[in-house]
Amino acid sequence: MGGTGGWLRRPERDGTCPCHGQGASHLSGGPRTGVAQLDAHDPIAEFEAWMAEAAQSEPNDPNAVCLATATPEGRPSARMVLLKDVDPRGFVFYTNLESRKGQELAGNPFAALCFHWKTLARSVRVEGRVEAVSAAEADAYYASRARGSRIGAWASRQSRPLESRFALEKAVAEQTLRFGLGEIPRPPHWSGFRLLPDRMELWRDMPFRLHERRVFHRDGAGWRIEMLYP
Ligand SMILES: Cc1cc2nc3c(=O)[nH]c(=O)nc-3n(C[C@H](O)[C@H](O)[C@H](O)COP(=O)(O)O)c2cc1C
Repeated sequence: MGGTGGWLRRPERDGTCPCHGQGASHLSGGPRTGVAQLDAHDPIAEFEAWMAEAAQSEPNDPNAVCLATATPEGRPSARMVLLKDVDPRGFVFYTNLESRKGQELAGNPFAALCFHWKTLARSVRVEGRVEAVSAAEADAYYASRARGSRIGAWASRQSRPLESRFALEKAVAEQTLRFGLGEIPRPPHWSGFRLLPDRMELWRDMPFRLHERRVFHRDGAGWRIEMLYP
């Protein structure tokens, strides 16, 4: 699961899971597999199966997810990010560490994710603490990005006021000149977080808004499951 290759590219359009890429194996034999075949007490495995289905049906970015963070005082903020890896440990996304989200996570490590796949009428919520990914993991993902994106990570002072579009274009031009044709190292202010879930909810649309809600609570090495009223 996870690891090199997965989530490092833009989503595949051929039905393979964007988290694992073409040719990689997936849980339970791939898309359209009934959940009954999955371990009912492994919500991360089930999430991956849902993601594989979403990769077939969503027009773009099935890995787009709303990330909620909060200040130490508990004031929340939310924005979209792209999920770039998932494995039994948790859910990985990358960002500028000095951004608003980066600063909030530095002061309060609890976060939540909310996926919604319109084509499947399903949603997944994930909650828990974040930890920094290793430098090696961040380096590997950064190296896989397009050169323009790597330069952009140096040029963008994400979340800080921008006086003009020209200022951004100038910063990009300066960084492009700076690196020339050479290697572009990962900026020290750019890395990833892994959200370690202690609570997940798998939600499915059902007739008359009597939706199915299954909540999984981390319980030692496993999970405890309960249903919620819709
Ligand atoms: C579909 C989508 C995917 C995005 N993916 C990312 C991402 O992976 N990382 C990131 O830092 N920003 C991403 N953004 C931009 C963020 O939504 C946001 O504008 C930016 O991270 C600044 O947020 P902040 O000021 O709350 O830190 C994405 C936006 C959209 C609409």
